[in-house]
Amino acid sequence: MPIYETVLDAVGGTPLIRLNRVGGAERARVLVKLEAVNPGGSIKDRIGLALIRAAEESGRLKPGGTVVEATAGNTGVGLAMAAAVLGYQSVFVVPDKMSPDKIRLLKAYGARVEIVPDVPRNDPQNYQQVAQRLADHLAGAAYMGQFEQKANPETHYRTTGPEIWEATQGQVGALVAGAGTGGTISGIGRYLKDQKPDVEVIGADPVGSIFTGPVAPFLIEGMGEDYYPDTLDADVVDRWEAVSDEEAFDMARQLARQEGILVGGSSGAIVVTALKVARDWQKSDWIVAMLPDTGRNYLSNIFREDS
Ligand SMILES: Cc1ncc(COP(=O)(O)O)c(C=O)c1O
Repeated sequence: MPIYETVLDAVGGTPLIRLNRVGGAERARVLVKLEAVNPGGSIKDRIGLALIRAAEESGRLKPGGTVVEATAGNTGVGLAMAAAVLGYQSVFVVPDKMSPDKIRLLKAYGARVEIVPDVPRNDPQNYQQVAQRLADHLAGAAYMGQFEQKANPETHYRTTGPEIWEATQGQVGALVAGAGTGGTISGIGRYLKDQKPDVEVIGADPVGSIFTGPVAPFLIEGMGEDYYPDTLDADVVDRWEAVSDEEAFDMARQLARQEGILVGGSSGAIVVTALKVARDWQKSDWIVAMLPDTGRNYLSNIFREDS
């Protein structure tokens, strides 16, 4: 093991793990990539530093400035971690449907958190609009823009995609991932297809999200949208599968209790989808499922004692 200069050097290089008990025999071709082992507990640690560097390079963020972002929580942690190392302040705008655990986490990193109602994107109270206004009015502040900045999918093209390719020695036939900004699925999907054009890319989508439509409220956090973000390259996705909140949360609890893998509801939805893909799978290649974050973010909802 190398000695790292900062915690940021410990981001990435996450393990691929077989499933041993959930689902049926179809689980044999599924590998899960456990992003929970990143230092901040999610896949968004990967983009924190990249978004800050993009803002510095464009001149929007200056030394001692403030990082501002609209986040479901995890991007906030990734950014707060990088901001702490690099000497920036951070302010995050979070929709009120997000778990209280995540809000406490952001504050633990020294960030200021503004909570707004979970309303559609065209509403002035929407978290992205509020964060953008805040960045415009606060001296020295810069909006990070995970939904717009190409640095987001590029990070996955540069890091997460090659990790999967190398760990499977090219024996990967399908990628299953969720999409919030779409950075994960677009960056990894594009990288894998550039290596091997017949790799299938399947998006797991909450019932109520636009990618499988029609738009309606849902409880799964971090994936699913009510519009197509700039950072989603929809052409990379071969098909989408809708998953209900109930199926997703039930699978998250099964993963903890049967596999010892404590992850969030979006990971549950992604494993449900990967097992569905595996049922009709004829190839010997692996189906790789991206598990975005740790279940520690959801102790007060998905993993309540009575659930
Ligand atoms: C909790 C969580 N964070 C992050 C992501 C990845 O999202 P993005 O599309 O923004 O890369 C997902 C997607 O499944 C997620 O569920």
